[in-house]
Amino acid sequence: MPTQDTAYRLRQSPPTIGIVGATGAVGGELLSILSERDFPVRELRLFASPRSAGKTLPFHGHDIGVEALRGDSFNGVDLALFSAGSGTAREWAPVAVRAGAIVVDNSSAFRMNPAAPLVVPEINAAEIVRHDGILSVPNCAAIIAITPLWPLHRRNRIRRMIVSTYQAASGGGAAALAELIAATRAHLAGDSHAPRVLPHPYAFNLFSHDTPIDPTTGHNDEETKVINETRKIFGDPDIRIGVTCVCVPVQRAHSAAVTIECERRIDPDEARALIAAAPGCRIVDDPIANHFPMPNDATGIDDILVGRIRRDLSDPSGHSLSLFVAGDQLRKGAALNAVQIAEHLLP
Ligand SMILES: NC(=O)c1ccc[n+]([C@@H]2O[C@H](COP(=O)([O-])OP(=O)(O)OC[C@H]3O[C@@H](n4cnc5c(N)ncnc54)[C@H](OP(=O)(O)O)[C@@H]3O)[C@@H](O)[C@H]2O)c1
Repeated sequence: MPTQDTAYRLRQSPPTIGIVGATGAVGGELLSILSERDFPVRELRLFASPRSAGKTLPFHGHDIGVEALRGDSFNGVDLALFSAGSGTAREWAPVAVRAGAIVVDNSSAFRMNPAAPLVVPEINAAEIVRHDGILSVPNCAAIIAITPLWPLHRRNRIRRMIVSTYQAASGGGAAALAELIAATRAHLAGDSHAPRVLPHPYAFNLFSHDTPIDPTTGHNDEETKVINETRKIFGDPDIRIGVTCVCVPVQRAHSAAVTIECERRIDPDEARALIAAAPGCRIVDDPIANHFPMPNDATGIDDILVGRIRRDLSDPSGHSLSLFVAGDQLRKGAALNAVQIAEHLLP
């Protein structure tokens, strides 16, 4: 498969595109973002589970039928955008590659595979050329938390970071979002609501991320992903990282409180200027109006909002800063990041 020169690119433009997981929360955003960004499309094929076969979804004024995946589904597909979970990706991404497609996968299936570039284009777009047929989009909480840290890390290496996330319901997919809405309605009406998708009542509550906990480290899967993927994306395996991931009753857009310790002194104004100049980031940092990044403001936009940039007073050396970020995890944390990667693959 392609590795050098222009061989890493799609074999034709406009490409025939397949979206696997088209009926899901990320799949819906992929459709919108391909359209918004005027991504060239020869033909669009939509795939989901057999439950959705026969449904239609609108794209560019046409209703496109949703198909269940089959052995020949990827024949003629140049670009396969996967957002259907890691099990589906493990089973079907290799099928797509064998059929000649380049896969951009939103799941965790291949992220830590050394052959699969793990790409946030604002950070490591150069990795795209070395793919072997599959490229991975990083974990959404990782993308939102670390994209604004990259310009700081490049100037003054971050040797330690502590990240606490506040993750939106739609991060758990369309069913988790529907459960938050149903549970909130029931709560306000004084009705009982038994959680079905999530492990705990979600209305007016929050809970530790519902992924399995590694008994050795005490970290759940989401936290472990943020640690390992940050090191891979930054190309710096020695950064010391502590993470706590929490689900909050917000519909959309993840937030994170981040504290970093750099190798040399770092000034909040210098950090603010570096982040302001970085692609994909927008400073929202108004102490007088008490206006800082909020998921409501981050919803539906491409930029990650960054504010509360201040000295970490617990480190008198002046090497440490704290900040707060909010970013739309369905867009920059998944669908937009995937489409940005795909734009680099266009011939
Ligand atoms: N939600 C986020 O914020 C976010 C962010 C970053 C990455 N991701 C990743 O993106 C992927 C999709 O997440 P999501 O939030 O969009 O989930 P979702 O709303 O639950 O959607 C899942 C999609 O996968 C499809 N699917 C399930 N089983 C399938 C199968 N056997 N074959 C083909 N399609 C199948 C579903 O089809 P049906 O509708 O027919 O069931 C649906 O289209 C996951 O890997 C997730 O980890 C999500």
